[in-house]
Amino acid sequence: MMIQHKTVLREEAIRYLGVLSNHHYVDCTLGGGGHTEAILDRNGTKGRVIAFELDADTIVRTKRRLKRFGARLIVVEDNFRSIGRVTEYGMPISGILYDLGTSMDLLKSSGRGFSFLVDEPLDMRFSLSTERTAADLIRTTRESELADLIFRYGEERLSRRIAHAIMQTRTHTSITTTRELVSVIERAVPPSYCRGRIHPATRTFQALRIAVNDELECLSESLEQAMALIERGGRIVVISFHSLEDRIVKQFFRIQKLKKTGIILTKKPITPSREEIEKNPNCRSAKLRALEILTPRP
Ligand SMILES: C[S@@+](CC[C@H](N)C(=O)[O-])C[C@H]1O[C@@H](n2cnc3c(N)ncnc32)[C@H](O)[C@@H]1O
Repeated sequence: MMIQHKTVLREEAIRYLGVLSNHHYVDCTLGGGGHTEAILDRNGTKGRVIAFELDADTIVRTKRRLKRFGARLIVVEDNFRSIGRVTEYGMPISGILYDLGTSMDLLKSSGRGFSFLVDEPLDMRFSLSTERTAADLIRTTRESELADLIFRYGEERLSRRIAHAIMQTRTHTSITTTRELVSVIERAVPPSYCRGRIHPATRTFQALRIAVNDELECLSESLEQAMALIERGGRIVVISFHSLEDRIVKQFFRIQKLKKTGIILTKKPITPSREEIEKNPNCRSAKLRALEILTPRP
């Protein structure tokens, strides 16, 4: 069953992008196309959006949904770490948007194990052309490396215990589904941890997804390139969903401020209103940051 992703901070993203009629924008994370649609509704009859997306099924569905925009929407099936490809279209770019992470569609209906709430193969790849799945990673990584990965990308304080339990299980059986991994984690942590605010598998799942998709590196590499692609006065807007991503964005924007290549437009990150959180609790950790570009294109 298809679940339509609820776009987070839609109006705020449009406001900070400063969408102008007949200007062109890049949406690095097309997903269900909510942000792309909002831009295309506002950037006039000649304005275009170049949108990146890794998941082929998402592209098919969203292109169909946004068919009415015709050639004004250009979809690129690629990682936004290859954002330099926008130069192929020879258009001046006035703004670049990132709405990071997974969409509800991927979480609920991709069948690729993004959620610990349903039993699916432990895959977690945004793109099926990525070589290594989460199950491969668990099968091949050494205990100490796995513990470091769960600690670094999941900020999981019980990372050593969890990695050890995974290794113990691995010696007699393979872990290939979300349910198998969840039960290993539940057995590894103290009972009190299972009664906590979040599910005990939350952080480990986040860590594996980030590692499988190399998410933090992709973001850093893309932001670096984005600076050279935008016209003077254009904007970069990033919506992130956990502190690791937000830290990368915050530091990157600070460096641009110090180098006098950008002005930070959001002294504090913009967060969803109480009303938006009530309608869509999944957006509660969202943070939006925006930068205006000062340097002309090289
Ligand atoms: C949070 S959703 C975007 C939702 C979209 N803004 C909307 O309103 O419907 C993020 C999307 O970005 C895609 N994605 C994640 N990392 C990516 C990357 N490095 N390059 C391209 N697409 C990526 C995911 O497959 C997912 O569909």
